[in-house]
Amino acid sequence: MLLVKINCQCEIGESVSPLRYNLQRISLQWEISFKKLTKSVVYYYFFVLILLLLFSFCNDYALHGPVFIQEPGHVMFPLNSEEKKVKLNCEVKGNPKPHIRWKLNGTDVDIGVDFRYSVVEGSLLINNPNKTQDTGTYQCIATNSFGTIVSREAKLQFAYLENFKTRTRSTVSVRQGQGMVLLCGPPAHSGELSYAWIFNEYPSYQDNRRFVSQETGNLYIAKVEKSDVGNYTCVVTNTVTNHKVLGPPTPLILRNDGVMGEYEPKIEVHFPETVPTAKGTTVKLECFALGNPVPTIIWRRADGKPIARKARRHKSNGILEIPNFQQEDAGLYECVAENSRGKNVARGQLTFYAQPNWIQKINDIHVAIEENVFWECKANGRPKPTYRWLKNGEPLLTRDRILIEQGTLNITIVNLSDAGMYQCVAENKHGVIFSNAELSVIGESLYWKEKKK
Ligand SMILES: *[C@@H]1O[C@H](CO)[C@@H](O)[C@H](O)[C@H]1NC(C)=O
Ligand SMILES: *[C@@H]1O[C@H](CO)[C@@H](O)[C@H](O)[C@H]1NC(C)=O
Ligand SMILES: *[C@@H]1O[C@H](CO)[C@@H](O)[C@H](O)[C@H]1NC(C)=O
Ligand SMILES: *[C@@H]1O[C@H](CO)[C@@H](O)[C@H](O)[C@H]1NC(C)=O
Ligand SMILES: *[C@@H]1O[C@H](CO)[C@@H](O)[C@H](O)[C@H]1NC(C)=O
Repeated sequence: MLLVKINCQCEIGESVSPLRYNLQRISLQWEISFKKLTKSVVYYYFFVLILLLLFSFCNDYALHGPVFIQEPGHVMFPLNSEEKKVKLNCEVKGNPKPHIRWKLNGTDVDIGVDFRYSVVEGSLLINNPNKTQDTGTYQCIATNSFGTIVSREAKLQFAYLENFKTRTRSTVSVRQGQGMVLLCGPPAHSGELSYAWIFNEYPSYQDNRRFVSQETGNLYIAKVEKSDVGNYTCVVTNTVTNHKVLGPPTPLILRNDGVMGEYEPKIEVHFPETVPTAKGTTVKLECFALGNPVPTIIWRRADGKPIARKARRHKSNGILEIPNFQQEDAGLYECVAENSRGKNVARGQLTFYAQPNWIQKINDIHVAIEENVFWECKANGRPKPTYRWLKNGEPLLTRDRILIEQGTLNITIVNLSDAGMYQCVAENKHGVIFSNAELSVIGESLYWKEKKK
């Protein structure tokens, strides 16, 4: 028995193209027994292997316009970070090798002038990032002899949390049985915050009587009891930097001019009247009422439909959380606060939105001179996306032979000046997406030119 063993391992270093990534670490191993297989099958496999190699070779070495492999994403940089540099990614393939530029808020970043900047394999590195100088919207721009494409827009923001300015807060005095709000008033910040309160050096519990709003940081006590007397301190945490700051303590004392009688619920924490919610995200609605006896909270939809079963209730119903938000979750929601004295209702509309998402992208086209070109791109999204077109990074508008109607582009009687890189841009107020393609125009061959002479 003859045994043929072929080991083929392709290791291509820090590589560029997705194709190469796929080829990385492909290990092919065949054990073919000639007893079972005919010669022709072996030839067939060799033929396929050679085709594959040729294909990957051509794909990497054929001349073509720039193509993004990686585009920059939004960056939230912690100001207190140990690492004193920011990297905005951009990786482009193309042949000839594309040249990369960067724009900040629409103007060129001058790499030569500011020594803090450098471009490393397309990506922009900013050393010692500075909030006032570097905050903004960045775009990577790639050019070679075939044309220019612009990347998506990436925001660079700085996360920070300053200290509380005030050192003391005046004493709050309430009657037993009364409802009460302690304001947190977080200091200047950027990045999402979370809130907690310390009561006499211990974390303050939350139950049906006590609630901390994660929107404002305020502490609510539905009905004050004797045991609530003490000092209250708001703890603010920046969830991006993990930096924590403590507010000034607020002493709470009881008034001695009597006890507050029973009264109907008064909704103090009210979710907004309209809550725009992105497809697939988690929305949290807050509702809390002061009252004596302590009110109960229930949630329902005003249209009578049941609230989706995926929804969760936290903090004694003070929070309604709906994960993976979808179109059918949109509607008018109500929170009902009730006690023996009466009830109170708060309402708000959850609206659905979705960033644009491609249904149909544009592909490279090769046409002969004087032919027509037709491209169509389509995206869904809510609100419905609008379209615009770019040629070599500049806006393309309808004129003489070029007709643009929303997601369609018609070029009639193509000539050589039409060749270049085209981008269809779909956008709504929640997002912008790009689809890129190359138009190559095949001119008259030299042979025909020679003949005409
Ligand atoms: C950031 O830039 C501003 C304006 O150029 C400058 O006043 C400030 O000192 C810089 N901050 C740091 C931390 O370098
Ligand atoms: C860029 O634009 C944003 C928003 O208009 C602005 O806040 C920021 O300061 C600008 N950045 C620079 C460096 O001018
Ligand atoms: C609240 O803080 C003040 C000043 O720090 C202190 O004198 C007082 O005893 C504290 N009250 C309680 C109930 O811990
Ligand atoms: C664009 O071109 C396509 C295909 O060539 C054609 O069917 C269509 O009618 C053209 N659209 C317009 C608005 O001229
Ligand atoms: C291509 O067409 C444009 C008009 O759309 C014209 O200005 C230009 O001269 C043409 N170029 C060539 C190379 O024919």
